[in-house]
Amino acid sequence: MAAALAAATEDRIVYDLAGIGRSLDTLRAELPGVQVRFALKACPLDEVLGVLARRGAGVDAASPGEVEQALRAGVPAGRVHYGNTVKSDRHIAEAYRLGVRTFATDSAEDVAALAVHAPGARVFCRVATGGAGAVWGLSNKFGCPPEDAVDVLARARDAGLVPAGLSVHVGSQQMTGEAWHAAVDDLGDVLRALDRRGIRVDHVNLGGGLPALGYRDRRGALLDPPLDKIFRVIREGTDELRRVHGGPLDFVVEPGRHLVADHGAIRAHVTRLAERRGAGGERQYWLYLSCGKFNGLYEMDALQYPLHFPGHTAGPRVPAVVAGPTCDSDDAYSHEEGLVRVPAALASGDPVWVLSCGAYATSYTTLGFNGFAPLPHAWADRPEGTGADG
Ligand SMILES: Cc1ncc(COP(=O)(O)O)c(C=O)c1O
Repeated sequence: MAAALAAATEDRIVYDLAGIGRSLDTLRAELPGVQVRFALKACPLDEVLGVLARRGAGVDAASPGEVEQALRAGVPAGRVHYGNTVKSDRHIAEAYRLGVRTFATDSAEDVAALAVHAPGARVFCRVATGGAGAVWGLSNKFGCPPEDAVDVLARARDAGLVPAGLSVHVGSQQMTGEAWHAAVDDLGDVLRALDRRGIRVDHVNLGGGLPALGYRDRRGALLDPPLDKIFRVIREGTDELRRVHGGPLDFVVEPGRHLVADHGAIRAHVTRLAERRGAGGERQYWLYLSCGKFNGLYEMDALQYPLHFPGHTAGPRVPAVVAGPTCDSDDAYSHEEGLVRVPAALASGDPVWVLSCGAYATSYTTLGFNGFAPLPHAWADRPEGTGADG
């Protein structure tokens, strides 16, 4: 990765495909027997999907467009599920036509639509979580309370669908094992209640939320998630849920950022390091970079990405607000708490490496807000000029 970033003379986002493949291998070794369905939204590049698909991973898709992309990249339809509880009649029918047979749901209305437009499909009900412990909680928009999940799946059965499973998402960049622990407790309660209603599901989807390792918080401190503990809690949780269920139960996870975040980095450049006075008269350094919230670093309001300044390893540093190049004041790290110590000698045009930004960078980028085009992508493990550049 460092060699590819150093070799780049123009801005780009570089992915380490081999690293992404290794992340999948490690995840599988940590969670043996658990199927992995990559949340495509985190990095919708055909080559990334290809690497994961060739190793047997499936895809969590959120729209017919994502289903189409997964199929195009070589993921068999049987390994693609529709994980978005929000979908129109047309989207359901289109996904069904493309061969998807497993759908997430969380409401009676969605179940009724699935019965019409995806007759006989397998459905899994998303159970809401509180989102505590995650950088992004995802707690309101999706999922029903555990006590309603039974009714939703009973409706599905009555409508001729297959009540096939349950799912949760404990929040993105989840930093605690306790979140999965609480989710397993809720899922156990729902499995018991389903059993009392004579409904036997065949799988539990433990969602996304597995953390990336390289992020810093808004103040610049390394987030350092307890990954070993998280994996242990998930392994124990699967044992517990199989015991509660009292029969065969498959498990699925649908990680997004965990597989790709730490294997993508941006080669950007310094637009300008400036020292100017704020409205209150105080002096403040600002480091404007060539990329920011609107072309790769959308999540910079909640995180800091580690920055590396090649060629400036020694010399004095100054505390600066880091910001993107656009005419939008949201395009910046927090300036109350998030100052970064940057080389005082930085000059316009100097290269900057933005690390651990492989998740959601290509998908959240704007089409060219303020005329700053989306970054081209490249691969760390294939020489440039071989047609691999995006
Ligand atoms: C249904 C579903 N699964 C998986 C993911 C991936 O989450 P993460 O990137 O936190 O692993 C998301 C993200 O929004 C999601 O909505």
